[in-house]
Amino acid sequence: MNISTEFGKHVLLPEGLDARIKEAANSLFEQKMDFTGWTDLPEKWLKGEAFAEIQKTADEIRKKAKLLIVIGIGGSYLGAKAVIEALAPEKMLGHPAADGRDTQIAFAGCNLSSSYHKVLLNAVKTMDTEICVISKSGTTTEPALAFALFKEALIKKYGRAEAMKRIVAITDEKKGTLREEADREGYKTFIVPDDVGGRYSVLTPVGLLPIAAAGIDIRRLLKGALEMKESIQSKPGTSGPLAYAGARYRLSTEKGGTGVWPKTTEIFEYYEPRLAYFAEWLKQLFGESEGKEGLGIFPASLSFSADLHSMGQFLQEGRQIFFETVLDVREPGTDLLAPMGAGPLLEGRSMNQVERAATDGVIRAHEAAGVPVIRISLPDFSPNVMGQMIYFFEMNCAVTALLSGVNPFDQPGVEAYKAEMKAGLKK
Ligand code: PA5
Repeated sequence: MNISTEFGKHVLLPEGLDARIKEAANSLFEQKMDFTGWTDLPEKWLKGEAFAEIQKTADEIRKKAKLLIVIGIGGSYLGAKAVIEALAPEKMLGHPAADGRDTQIAFAGCNLSSSYHKVLLNAVKTMDTEICVISKSGTTTEPALAFALFKEALIKKYGRAEAMKRIVAITDEKKGTLREEADREGYKTFIVPDDVGGRYSVLTPVGLLPIAAAGIDIRRLLKGALEMKESIQSKPGTSGPLAYAGARYRLSTEKGGTGVWPKTTEIFEYYEPRLAYFAEWLKQLFGESEGKEGLGIFPASLSFSADLHSMGQFLQEGRQIFFETVLDVREPGTDLLAPMGAGPLLEGRSMNQVERAATDGVIRAHEAAGVPVIRISLPDFSPNVMGQMIYFFEMNCAVTALLSGVNPFDQPGVEAYKAEMKAGLKK
């Protein structure tokens, strides 16, 4: 089953953009720009031997370690965390359903909090641990600091020789501090391809190794991505999955009905908390790709139904600067039946039925208030669907950026903060 897109009545349909969307999509598929290597990752991996090496390393980690600490920030952790939380949340360290038999995954180096890292350092003392350190540049401060901490903890626990065997580094083939260190210390390494940027790297070892280490079928993930690629290629214009890019572009550049136009904010909304990090990944993908030269749609996210009780009022009656993109999981899997005594409205209904009533009801209410709503339906939580979602959003994001005339693949603003932070540390 494939993911599908449905446009509400206030969404500006991508009319008149067919030729421009096809041209943008073709330029991406033909890899005419720098950093477009991600467009053919699914088929490359499915064919190549490197895939087997990733799976083998992940299997070894699963056999040997009770804890895998993945160190990285931005594009070097969000994709992996998004997929693991969506498909195997019980593999995250500290999850209430963790049974202690499988390898648990934790992420580090994605903030500068001592208390956050202290908890993980304590876990290293009691759990057999391996580290996967990821940095494309090999020079980013947050993961460098976290890696130094966890490497020291491994050496303390296992001795230097064994500790070095418990580290996998994913970085540039030739340059960067991490590459130099990996070569010097003899870590097992995987390469972040030169032609793939951080936020488009989830289908490289950056995402695939941690995802496979969580026991998720990466072949099915890649197959899903390939299916979406083929679906886009069979309908590269506004009649296929890239209609979403056209709608986003028109919503953010034209005047529609009631409220404030053009729309400056896109709110990604989800009802399944397992999609929280997928929304974080989306925010990075869209924020870094589109937010430049004074342009871009501000990407936000809301977790429903919790946030309906905090932000619902604003959505219904507040300043109408936004459109909503609902991530609607049709078959969430687990279901619970409301017991007798739950009240006449709920008795005999399942929780998923109530969630469905909320999803559909909220869309109706917001549309009645004039909000443009885009519904993206995910058939279920499966690696195939996640693969489709990754490719769908990567492609739509790059195409909207190209329609707006900005380069989707650089991030001069991120580089600026990194430089300022380093300058501050040198003082
Ligand atoms: O998308 C990007 O390029 C950035 O968000 C990077 O992923 C992030 O800054 C981490 O960089 P690096 O992997 O070089 O440590």
